[in-house]
Amino acid sequence: MHFFTGIQETQDLCQKWRDKVESIAFVPTMGCLHEGHLSLVEKAKSLAQHVVVSIFVNPLQFDDVNDLAKYPHTLEDDRLKLEELGIDLLFAPDVDAFYPEGEHAVKQTDLGQITAILEGAQRPGHFAGVATVVERLFGLIQPNIAIFGEKDFQQLMVIQKLVKEFSLDIEIVGMPIFREEDGLAMSSRNLRLTEAEREKAAEIYQQLALLRKEILAGANNFAVLEQLAIENLIKAGFEPEYVVIRETSTLLPPVNHSDDKVILIAAKLGETRLIDNIRV
Ligand code: PAJ
Repeated sequence: MHFFTGIQETQDLCQKWRDKVESIAFVPTMGCLHEGHLSLVEKAKSLAQHVVVSIFVNPLQFDDVNDLAKYPHTLEDDRLKLEELGIDLLFAPDVDAFYPEGEHAVKQTDLGQITAILEGAQRPGHFAGVATVVERLFGLIQPNIAIFGEKDFQQLMVIQKLVKEFSLDIEIVGMPIFREEDGLAMSSRNLRLTEAEREKAAEIYQQLALLRKEILAGANNFAVLEQLAIENLIKAGFEPEYVVIRETSTLLPPVNHSDDKVILIAAKLGETRLIDNIRV
């Protein structure tokens, strides 16, 4: 496995593969890798001749300086895990190398409405930061395929919009959410939960499953269902930010009964902000 922190060496190696018409699958991450991330890497291995993983805690996508400061860094462990999986290249630049013009001077990518709702409304600037870093990574690596998790459902849609808007010749593959045994979606931020919080944390998944069951049984008063889950989460000790039932392809409120739906929750548990979703 190559381990590069520099832009030029990364560009050169990827170019060498492209010159030989060898395919590249890319998995961007912020590190602190768990089984969810690794399931994306496994998928990447099955889809292309070369697999590139990036680890970069992108300051542009953090709306909260404390969240950025507390973000876990476990590069040595991550590196071993990726080596074991047999990927071709781990790219882990530092901020100065990645944004040589200075992170505050970077011209950010704006993808419109999809970046303004839900996570975008709770975390202003977040998706501009995500779109900017992913656009730059795509330009550098120029993969044939890039893999993202449905854990960040709205992010996946933002990336699809990015590819469409800039006519990028990259296939975007979405992967199902990897969960702990009790249903908690795996996340690097779960490490921040206290033991007591960790015991409660799967309540988010319980509420998603409850609403899904109700909708499948014919319930269609979505506002009532959303409110029910909000109250249940508050009773369990969470501070919910949103519980919404949305149409899958736009993330706007469903108009027709037959629309494909996804239920999305963001809630704080103590100091930790958790997000999760389930398709109906
Ligand atoms: P990060 O949170 O490290 O996630 C990297 C990728 O792993 C994302 O596509 C995310 O959706 C996926 N992932 C996280 N937890 C998962 C789980 N439990 N099951 C399946 N997939 C999961 O998302 C980011 O980093 C960043 O925003 C990034 C795209 C790298 C841009 O900086």
